[in-house]
Formats: sequence, structure tokens, C-alpha cells
Amino acid sequence: MRKIAIIGGTGVYSPEALAGFEEKVITTPYGDALCKLGTLHGNQVVFITRHGVGHSVPPHKVNYRANIWALKSLGTEEIFATTAVGSLNREMKAGHFVVCDQAIDFTKSRVNTFYDTPERGVAHVDFTNPYCSRLRAKVIKCLEKTAIPFHKTGCYVCTEGPRFETAAEIKMFAMLGGDLVGMTNLPESVLAREAEMCYTNCSIVTNMAAGISPTPLSHSEVVEAMAQSGKNMAQLIEAFIADNSEDTETCNCAHCMAEFGGFKL
Ligand code: HPA
Repeated sequence: MRKIAIIGGTGVYSPEALAGFEEKVITTPYGDALCKLGTLHGNQVVFITRHGVGHSVPPHKVNYRANIWALKSLGTEEIFATTAVGSLNREMKAGHFVVCDQAIDFTKSRVNTFYDTPERGVAHVDFTNPYCSRLRAKVIKCLEKTAIPFHKTGCYVCTEGPRFETAAEIKMFAMLGGDLVGMTNLPESVLAREAEMCYTNCSIVTNMAAGISPTPLSHSEVVEAMAQSGKNMAQLIEAFIADNSEDTETCNCAHCMAEFGGFKL
């Protein structure tokens, strides 16, 4: 039995496949996390809505540590996260899915580690490759069986938000090698790594980024584009959960904190 978590971003609130899941509030040292628990295709599945009930929590206020801690305490081993993004790359168009392989962190005000107390001590986790190679390969394999337009690699730039970017910022991110811009993949991905869980992201392009888009950006544009991609994402999530075939790639996520005695709840 795989132990899977889905973190649904903007527009991915509760895939139909997870109907009948039990809602449970998981209490953590960082606060509560609302989880939906169930079994699908023989696997334990937990679903978390990143932005809370009714999309009420902005990206810089998401309780990333509570969410990741809750998933760890439920025994989660694999996290599949979705993110809505703007695109800096003209090849990556609205409706395209991107299985990111790199990230650049431009967040400013978020607690980005579990290792910030004397009790836990100091730890420096390896983050050379921010997304799990094993899960990325699985997601790519699932996408290859669909008609969804997608890209196997991409560099995610995470901004602080909640405002959208300036045209100059987007120009700079493109010069740095960014392909996509969003507000939520950091510190979520690094906390999952510290907690020794496999984590992969699948981004959905909702708009061209500021200064590339011919029109001003709006949240409703993002929500509308996500609604159009919702069916595709539901299909991918279900395929990911159903794919219990042998992995084609390996990873070290479950042991990445060995140098520091392993992650402890
Ligand atoms: N910028 C930041 N976050 C986003 C965007 C964007 O253009 N689109 C969707 N999420």
C-alpha cells in the first residue's frame, strides 16, 4: 500500500475520485490542518486543500509547517502537489502542465524550516534537486498516457505575493532561468524534504506572466483557467494514485536527513 498525499492548489479543491473521504482535523505543534482521508486503488490517500476552506488563506499565510507535519504524522510517503502558475516561457502556454525539476526561492517572510529551535538543532538539507526524481518520473509516465499538453522540466520561481509581479521582476526571473512563477511551492517543497517525504509538483499554466501578458493580471483569470484545466488535473491525480507499477527511478528522500539523525516528529 502506497501512502499518498495530494496537496490541491488553486482550483483543485476536491477531486470527485475522493468523494466519501473522511474529514479530520490533525493537530500539530504548528496549528491544525484539515485533511480528507480515504483509500483509493489500494492506497492510503490524504487530501489537503492548500488555501483552506473556500480559498480563504493567501499564499504567504498558508500554514505550510502544519500541513506537512500533519501529512508526516499520517504516515505519508509521497506528496503530489498542484500549483497554478504564470508562464515566462513562450513554449509553456495556458492549460499546459509542467513537471518542474528546479526552483528558485524569492519568498521573504515565511518560516522555511522545521529546524529553528534549540531542541531540533541545526540541519542543512540537500536541495540540489528540489523535487523527487522517483515521483517526477511517475507523473511524467502518467501524463504520457493522456492527451494533456505537458513539459517534462521547468524552473519554478516562487514569489512572496500576494500581489502579482512587476514586468521588471518577470524580466529578471527569465534572465535567471525561470520558466514559471507562482506563490506557493516554497517552503512547502523544502519542508517535505526535511520531513523525508517524496514530493513532486505539477504546475498548471493559467496565464502569461506580467509584462508578457498583453493584459493586466487578475485572480479571476487564474481561477477561470484552472476551471478549464480541472478535468485534466483530476484525471492526472487519479492516474497517479492508480499507478502502482514498479518505479523507474530511485530517490533518497526517505533518508535525506540521516546525517542529522533522521527527521523526528
Ligand atoms: N504570478 C504568480 N502566481 C501566479 C500567477 C502569476 O502570474 N499565475 C498563477 N499564479
